[in-house]
Amino acid sequence: MLKRYTDIPTAMRRHSIEPTVFVVSRGNDGKVNVMAAGWNVKCSYDPPMMAVALQKGHHTERLVREVGEFVLAVPSPELREQLEYVGSVSGAVTDKFQHTDLRTQPAAEISVPLIAQARANFECVLEQAVLTGDHYLCIGRVVAAHYDADQEQLYFAGRSPTGDRVFQSVKTTFAEDRPN
Ligand SMILES: Cc1cc2nc3c(=O)[nH]c(=O)nc-3n(C[C@H](O)[C@H](O)[C@H](O)COP(=O)(O)O)c2cc1C
Repeated sequence: MLKRYTDIPTAMRRHSIEPTVFVVSRGNDGKVNVMAAGWNVKCSYDPPMMAVALQKGHHTERLVREVGEFVLAVPSPELREQLEYVGSVSGAVTDKFQHTDLRTQPAAEISVPLIAQARANFECVLEQAVLTGDHYLCIGRVVAAHYDADQEQLYFAGRSPTGDRVFQSVKTTFAEDRPN
């Protein structure tokens, strides 16, 4: 029998598998920042658009709206610790690249760099930032995308009974010679 949740945000937290990514951003001062975001989604193929929900007040939220560009980088299983770390401290007070082995490389079309070890990187130009409540839904036009076919994809599968994050990984392909 179905039970009704007493708290809707708890319900939303309990029932979500999230294709968590690194969100890379850059300030007008040139400093690069990175955080983790599970709330991201493709939202158009033509034109190619992806969106990510950034909590109001996160350093990344400020930088993305200031510069108007961001990168969504898909992690491989080897990047799990780094993903959890950049998702736990603020770039306003810490240079997260100094505390991890994450490496950047220049993007093709925008000024925000890619994560060199990621399985895929999507370069996005901000089209709209919609204030939904406590988050901005940042909708970006994807202007370039890159992949490393040797890597598996890590994703967030939910919480264990003790509350720990459970991540899983899957080997799929990004190869362009496949029909779809
Ligand atoms: C697995 C994971 C997923 C997360 N997903 C989101 C998200 O979708 N949106 C968000 O605003 N914060 C999310 N966070 C929290 C931010 O990554 C975290 O608050 C980070 O420290 C913000 O960094 P910043 O202040 O440098 O931008 C997530 C954290 C983790 C560990």
